[in-house]
Amino acid sequence: MFAQVKISPSLLSADFMNMERELRMIEQAGASFAHVDVMDGHFVPNLTMGVPFVRCLKAATALPLDVHLMIANPLEQIPWFLDAGADWLTFHIEAFEDSLGSPESLEAAKQAIALIREAGAHPGISCKPQTPTATLKPLLSLVDMVLVMSVNPGFSGQSYMQGTASRVAEVVSMARAQGRSPLIEVDGGIDAFTAQEVARAGADVLVAGNAIFKAENPAAALKEIAASAHLAQAAALQGICQAEEA
Ligand code: DX5
Ligand code: ZN
Repeated sequence: MFAQVKISPSLLSADFMNMERELRMIEQAGASFAHVDVMDGHFVPNLTMGVPFVRCLKAATALPLDVHLMIANPLEQIPWFLDAGADWLTFHIEAFEDSLGSPESLEAAKQAIALIREAGAHPGISCKPQTPTATLKPLLSLVDMVLVMSVNPGFSGQSYMQGTASRVAEVVSMARAQGRSPLIEVDGGIDAFTAQEVARAGADVLVAGNAIFKAENPAAALKEIAASAHLAQAAALQGICQAEEA
């Protein structure tokens, strides 16, 4: 069924000392998730938040926690994040990069997905902008979410990378060919303008950090991103319907 694009604000750009206030703001402004960027200083240079913080967030909001692991050892740490309350848990295929694209890396990714699924959470898989989306093809039938990075993971506030929309379209068509429709999430440099491009390409969930939390009016910024994504999505769907009728 057709579903409107959802917004997952990235808490990395929020005011950590006033996180409860930030959570209330995104809840009231219509966010569908809270996006939690976990960086370990190895997989990416930056170091952000970990298990205790996720546990606190879980107690502080009813929004589903959309936890994005940018860590080198997902198999070891996934159980901890599940225990802390991650509802959606996404890891990177490049975490297994010694053997990227090999049967071993796929096996490790499948194990990670199974751990998440068995705990009753939603598994997600992600890849960096330079990794061919086809690397994810054998996993598309196993996950509930595919996170398409529109920046190199590591920092908030970067510029959206051109070419992301076609990567979104590639994932959508690979999944459709398998009769699957995992949520397609786009993360990095999303604002009211770039949101339109990825919504047209078939994105279901948009992560936005700086464009929301650093705006003069964060609630209005969140609503504006959602509204412009909805308009673009509706126009794209209308175009598809007209083409089918013709
Ligand atoms: C980047 C993170 C993103 C980022 C989003 O590695 O995964 O979630 O913080 O922030 P903006 O929207 O500011 O690019
Ligand atoms: Zn993220």
